[in-house]
Amino acid sequence: MEYDDSEREAGKLTGLLDYADALRRNLNPQLEGIAMRLRDEFVLRRFSAVSSDEGATLSKANMPIVVSPMREEDIDGGIRTIQEAFANDPYNLWIYNDRSKIDLNRNRISLRIRCLWGLRNALFHVAKEEGSDKVLGIAMWIPPRAIDKPLTWGEWFWNGFEDWRLWGNQVVMNLQHGRGGLNVKRYYIWKARQAEAHKEVWTDPKGYYFLNIICVLPEAQGKGVGRALFNEVTKKADAEGIKCYLESSRDEPNTKIYEAMGFKLVRGMDCDDDGEVCKLYCMVREPKVIA
Ligand SMILES: CC(C)(COP(=O)(O)OP(=O)(O)OC[C@H]1O[C@@H](n2cnc3c(N)ncnc32)[C@H](O)[C@@H]1OP(=O)(O)O)[C@@H](O)C(=O)NCCC(=O)NCCS
Repeated sequence: MEYDDSEREAGKLTGLLDYADALRRNLNPQLEGIAMRLRDEFVLRRFSAVSSDEGATLSKANMPIVVSPMREEDIDGGIRTIQEAFANDPYNLWIYNDRSKIDLNRNRISLRIRCLWGLRNALFHVAKEEGSDKVLGIAMWIPPRAIDKPLTWGEWFWNGFEDWRLWGNQVVMNLQHGRGGLNVKRYYIWKARQAEAHKEVWTDPKGYYFLNIICVLPEAQGKGVGRALFNEVTKKADAEGIKCYLESSRDEPNTKIYEAMGFKLVRGMDCDDDGEVCKLYCMVREPKVIA
């Protein structure tokens, strides 16, 4: 039997299509399997509790973490997280050095004022286990302020109003509850050293995302919650080409943890009260270039 060219071409095409069909039938489930595994890996790495020890591997699969914007109803859980996570923090021990005077109730009121300010003025996130309302960690970032871009009247008015509001609330709290063990002299020493550090380090005209608070409940630490909280803002900073900045109150293990997030130590900050020194670690993260 003789075939003309067009019949031969059609035959070749049908053969190719049959072959493609067969490939798709056979490969699809495998590709789908690979895609699912990659997705699971991504979700686990991005949102889940990741730990290297075997005992915690189970919780890794069972503890997907969801990061969402902080809401007013999360504040109580956030305050508990701050108080537990910072209980033995070196800065906390230095600035509340007379432990007999500590008033945790006054501290809760002070933190509530700060958190309410953060809801209105900061990038404020909360991490929870999926399906649970328990706060596992929080992060508050102050957005960058470009030094070469003057504030609009609206921004100027809003910032001024918010600064006065914060200050006013703090004054009322101090009148009602006292200082609650806060060493005021040390507070001002810290503020002065911090202003010097910002002047020296914050040289980028685009400004910096400033990590004001990050903490994870002690029982949830080391499981990827901090990483998930960081990612929320570092990915934004990368997309905008803006640097991030933080002040760590601990050398070990925190500077290592922050290095894992891409931060580098740029300077120390010694808060010295007549020889009793609290050392802080200023770290900067360069934005990653997105291909
Ligand atoms: C600092 C803190 C926020 C980190 O959050 P976390 O949930 O414990 O951290 P993660 O589990 O997400 O770990 C983040 C990265 O640091 C690494 N890391 C965690 N613990 C570490 C340790 N002890 N040593 C070295 N690296 C460590 C992790 O491997 C991870 O890197 P990877 O994602 O590349 O694997 C949290 O531990 C915390 O709240 N600590 C107490 C309060 C505090 O110190 N707050 C900050 C004040 S500056």
